[in-house]
This record gives sequence, structure tokens and C-alpha cells, in this order.
Amino acid sequence: MTLKLKNMFKEYDGTYVLNDINLDIKDKNVISIIGNSGGGKSTLLNILSGYTKASEGSIIVNEHILKNNEKNLFEYRKNIGIVFQSYNLFPHISVLRNITLILEKVHKYSKKEAFERAAFLLEKFRLCEHRNKRPNQMSGGQQQRLAIVRALSYKPEMMFFDEPTAALDPSLTNEVLDTIKGLKDDGVHFMISTHEMGFAKNVADYVLFLNDGIIIEQGSPNDIFENPKTEELKMFLSNILEWR
Ligand SMILES: Nc1ncnc2c1ncn2[C@@H]1O[C@H](COP(=O)(O)OP(=O)(O)O)[C@@H](O)[C@H]1O
Ligand SMILES: [Mg+2]
Repeated sequence: MTLKLKNMFKEYDGTYVLNDINLDIKDKNVISIIGNSGGGKSTLLNILSGYTKASEGSIIVNEHILKNNEKNLFEYRKNIGIVFQSYNLFPHISVLRNITLILEKVHKYSKKEAFERAAFLLEKFRLCEHRNKRPNQMSGGQQQRLAIVRALSYKPEMMFFDEPTAALDPSLTNEVLDTIKGLKDDGVHFMISTHEMGFAKNVADYVLFLNDGIIIEQGSPNDIFENPKTEELKMFLSNILEWR
């Protein structure tokens, strides 16, 4: 993933929640965003995935120049898979249909192509036996895995995960993190905000530390976790370590 952001700001009602974000990151397959709650992680992910418009500044993701118009962003989003903390599945239709619906309606697969793609993925991600259930008849971990499968079903160029395990029982967190790690092994490129520092440390190629709307530090997992430079990052990491 390549990110070029220049003087990007996001304001809500006169308050800047992202403050002069500048990034020049080249060819990092997995980028992780860490930082305190309210720091702007979700806002940044929503902007980079084309679901929220920035207030100012320029944004290029891979080859895509994000413009502040709905048509441009709608087309851009077809390249993107996004997974939220709250799975955002369609509750009233089957697990299988949750996948085929988007493939048919948005990505113009035929019924047969959509079914074959969905069946392949449900098998691969061990959800096959649940295909006729409604999403809420599965565990939280299974529902989140379905959300992941749905987001990658149309082979997006890149994926965005916003605290994908935050709503899960600790016992279900690993199965979802393992699934996401598996995506990396399959060559999927993604950006993820997470409070799972072990994951950021071991899976990310590059880490951003975002605090109060400002990128305070960025670098390799080794730079960030072993050699933090700022008081803010040292404080953030030590607060996390205290919990363990
Ligand atoms: N739609 C919105 N309207 C007004 N303020 C918002 C909105 N979305 C987020 N914010 C504010 O932006 C700040 C950053 O939020 P967020 O991006 O959710 O941070 P994080 O994901 O790091 O917890 C917070 O102060 C939050 O209250
Ligand atoms: Mg958030």
C-alpha cells in the first residue's frame, strides 16, 4: 500500500479531529494504526477508505487520487474492503446471501459466479456449515470472520480494518486475528487499527501512532515498540504494559 497525504485536516463543527496529516509511505503491505481512543483512528480509516470526506488536503492511495465528490468516492470504494468493529452484516438474510448479494448487486457477478465464489470462501474460512443460518445464529468470532469474507469476496485491491476484535470476547479474538494474519500470508494488503499490540508488533510492516489527531510517530514495529522517541508514545506503551 502506498499513501501520500499532504496537509490533510478533518474538522467536525470547528474542532479538528485530524490535524495536518502528512504521510509518504511506499509499498507497505500491512500498516497498523495505534493510539488512544478518540485520537482519530476511525476517522483516518474512514477517510482513506473513501467513506468520509477530508476537510482539507490531498490524498493519494496507491494510484487513486481521492476527490471530494461522491461519484469519485463511490467508484473508489469498489476497490476497497472494509471491516468494522460491529460486524455490519445484513441480519435478515442467510450467511451465504450476505456474500452473494454484494457480489451480484455491486460487483455485477452472475448468480452462478457469485455462488461459486461464496461457496469457495465459506469452505476456505470454515463457515460452510453455517451457510444457511442468519448471521446472529453464529458466535461473534464467526460473524466477524463472515464480515471479513464478505469484504474480501470481490478481491479488493486493499482492505481496512477498524478495531476488528474490539467487540469480541477475548476467547474469540485469536480466531479473528489468525484469520487476518492469514490474509497477509495470502498477499492481501491492508490497514488496521487495533489495540492488540502483539498483532501490530508481529504482523504490521509499518506502524502509525496517532494521538489527539496528530501522527506523533511512525516507523517499523521495531522503531515504534522497541525505540519509542516521544513521551506520548512511551506513555501510551507503558499504560498498555501495566495492564498485562
Ligand atoms: N461524526 C462525527 N461528528 C463529530 N465528531 C466526531 C465524529 N466522528 C468522530 N468524531 C470525533 O472525532 C474524534 C476522533 O474520533 P475517532 O476517529 O472515532 O477516534 P478513535 O477511532 O481513535 O477512537 C473524537 O473526538 C470523536 O468524538
Ligand atoms: Mg475508533
